[in-house]
Amino acid sequence: MGAGGSAPRWPPPRGRRGSRWQSSQGQAPLERVLGGEVGNFFADLHRGHGVDVRTGVGVGSFEGSSELEAVRLSDGNRIECDFAVVGVGVMPRTDLAERAGLDVQNGIRVDERLEASVPGIFAAGDVANARHPIFGPIRIEHWANALNQGPAAARNMLGAEHPYDRVPYFFSDQYDLGLEYSGFASGADRVVFRGDLESREFIAFWLSDGRVAAGMNVNTWGVSEAIQSLVRGQLEVDVEHLTNPAFPLEDLGTERPTRGRPKRSAREFLRQGPTFSKRFAAARFGRADKTPASELGPGEARVLQMDGQKAACYRDDSGDLHAVSAVCTHMGCLIDWSDADKTWDCPCHGSRFDSDGRVIQGPAKKPLEEVHVAATEKAAATTRESA
Ligand SMILES: Cc1cc2nc3c(=O)[nH]c(=O)nc-3n(C[C@H](O)[C@H](O)[C@H](O)COP(=O)(O)OP(=O)(O)OC[C@H]3O[C@@H](n4cnc5c(N)ncnc54)[C@H](O)[C@@H]3O)c2cc1C
Ligand code: FES
Repeated sequence: MGAGGSAPRWPPPRGRRGSRWQSSQGQAPLERVLGGEVGNFFADLHRGHGVDVRTGVGVGSFEGSSELEAVRLSDGNRIECDFAVVGVGVMPRTDLAERAGLDVQNGIRVDERLEASVPGIFAAGDVANARHPIFGPIRIEHWANALNQGPAAARNMLGAEHPYDRVPYFFSDQYDLGLEYSGFASGADRVVFRGDLESREFIAFWLSDGRVAAGMNVNTWGVSEAIQSLVRGQLEVDVEHLTNPAFPLEDLGTERPTRGRPKRSAREFLRQGPTFSKRFAAARFGRADKTPASELGPGEARVLQMDGQKAACYRDDSGDLHAVSAVCTHMGCLIDWSDADKTWDCPCHGSRFDSDGRVIQGPAKKPLEEVHVAATEKAAATTRESA
């Protein structure tokens, strides 16, 4: 019972008609991770191997006098059986961490460097709810994550200051079907397929706002690295190319030409290094400061959430507010304020802009777009100033 990651992988026992399992919560196996459409693919796979798949139903009770004789389902149905495998998920064991005063919320909360809320304490693996530069806080229950986070935490204990930014990855084998999954599909708005579901050789891509959030290659090998590049790059992809098996995955990840920006490949993106990935992700996924601009004092500058976007806001000494897009027009990194020079600087390749967004220094060529400032945001400052 259970239709998450572990129970469906129990094969029907040799010489028996088949084990039965069902989803207690969702309408399809693996629905929580893969969504309904791909989940149904797995339901069919198991049905094809003689498994009686029941979805949308929980377990009411076990029945039997001295040993198991049946499982009673929540819909009243009774399934006769002489053994049951329960695979209904695990909970992180955090009592020790809680008693130590660490911030615990779906695991031990750690920052990008895997350090907990109490400095000097680190967490890695299944128990760590780690802030990922692309996906935000996520807790991952997979072998590769446990393998790689441990050494990363150790390096940071020794002062390395490296964010843990590996793309989440797992593998699984079910009957004659092997798969690898890279990324994190939660929040994706669309699933598209490259290859043929019927032949069971395909890649499923989960897209979020036109960008690849996750990819799963099924009986298709040697593509994980390219899929992870797309996930890490977070560039908009051309879906026609993505779903065309003849189009090389390595050449995907170009931004939509309609936006008038130069095309870039995922490979080129990766060459930019860790600062770039981090600042690029921060521009799109980092939490924005929701402080109203009216609270900025004269001479103060901050990146604030304004008019649905991240705005670089600066209130000059005379109280006027200057608000421009906080996303560098060169390759899309989040810019920082330089108090010494009163400029917005991009840490990725050194572009520099004045407080009205004009380019002072390239490689950026286009100015930062002006952001609309509500009258109340301006008025409040004026009122405070006049007060
Ligand atoms: C049935 C099953 C199948 C799986 N299949 C796959 C798969 O196919 N692919 C995949 O990628 N992943 C798979 N996983 C997940 C993978 O096994 C885990 O993600 C990985 O083992 C986590 O490693 P970890 O070191 O973080 O935690 P664990 O392996 O759980 O180790 C934690 C250790 O800490 C100990 N511990 C807990 N509390 C304390 C305490 N207070 N003091 C001292 N010690 C303590 C525990 O006893 C345990 O030994 C599977 C998991 C299960 C259960
Ligand atoms: S992204 Fe290259 S300078 Fe800003």
